Amino acid sequence: MAFQRRILTGDRPTGKLHLGHYVGSLENRVKLQEDYDTLIVIADLHMLTTRPDTDSIGELGENVRGLVSDYLACGIDPEKSNIYLQSAVSEIYELNLIFEMLVSVNRLARLPSLKDMVKSAQMSEDSMPFGLLGYPVLQAADILLPMATLVPVGKDNEAHLEITREIARRFNGLYGDVFPEPDSMIGEVPTLMGTDGKCKMSKSLGNCIYLSDDENTVRKKVRSMYTDPKRIHANVPGTVEGNPVFQYLDAFCTDTSLVEELKTRYREGTVGDGEVKDRLFESLEVFLAPLRKKRADLDADKGYVDQVLLDGTERMRDLARENMNKIRKAMGLQGNWNRIRRAAEKRRKKQSSP
Ligand code: TRP
Repeated sequence: MAFQRRILTGDRPTGKLHLGHYVGSLENRVKLQEDYDTLIVIADLHMLTTRPDTDSIGELGENVRGLVSDYLACGIDPEKSNIYLQSAVSEIYELNLIFEMLVSVNRLARLPSLKDMVKSAQMSEDSMPFGLLGYPVLQAADILLPMATLVPVGKDNEAHLEITREIARRFNGLYGDVFPEPDSMIGEVPTLMGTDGKCKMSKSLGNCIYLSDDENTVRKKVRSMYTDPKRIHANVPGTVEGNPVFQYLDAFCTDTSLVEELKTRYREGTVGDGEVKDRLFESLEVFLAPLRKKRADLDADKGYVDQVLLDGTERMRDLARENMNKIRKAMGLQGNWNRIRRAAEKRRKKQSSP
């Protein structure tokens, strides 16, 4: 069966986006929106799997707006990409439940990402909610409800895409070809290190440079970045590999010959860390300054971000209703219901006519 080329991707509204999000997935989304019908889900139901408290729901409005602003600031175009709020599309809950029948508890419980989420949410395994086990199933519902064929995500989501394909295959085997088996697409830099040199930039580790950081904050964060600890002086030969300063330069400095020159001099011990960091700061600013300007324009237009979200969610609701009908039909649920309704109506008519 031929499916329309469609992207579905998204994020939980748990805070600001950082450079790792950009190179891991956002950059791809901005590029691909030119050629694909693109949908972006603000996954607030996924947020509830680890944070169902009223405080986090209270913060939701601000976080959702912040996330949409981050998208728009870095080049997501609402004319090309449809951004919508997950919790406002009830068909996602509906499909989630159907998909829960098509995957084993065992398969979900073995996923390494589950342990990671339990750990970073600081909960004990014993208190893990049922819904967190189902996190990848809900994600499969996000992806398959609009029949998406491509999912640009971070590397940590790859296993969830595998589950998504398995669910699609199982559904199609049982009820006929309804769903595509979507591919994942991982960004050019799958895992951006933290400013502290730890393996991953992550909010909970406090080692992030955010897309919304101001110039001074970026300068300070770059200055205090972890580099090769052996280099007590600029003339000590340094290591480029695994050095976050160089990983960021590779990712964000468009002048590749400058990066190569800095690497050579770093290895020889003929450049100080300060100078390398200055060049990195400048490269980051070339990238971040226009984002700041765009964000200021968005902030000045009150209600614009909400308008984008409302329009996107309404469009998604139409698509969701249409596709959910197809799904219920394929399963025979709609047929059953139609028969019951027809028989009951027939009886009702008979009773009301003398
Ligand atoms: N799991 C994603 C994250 O790590 C968020 C998400 C929810 C998502 N639904 C999605 C990503 C669908 C891609 C497609 O935050």
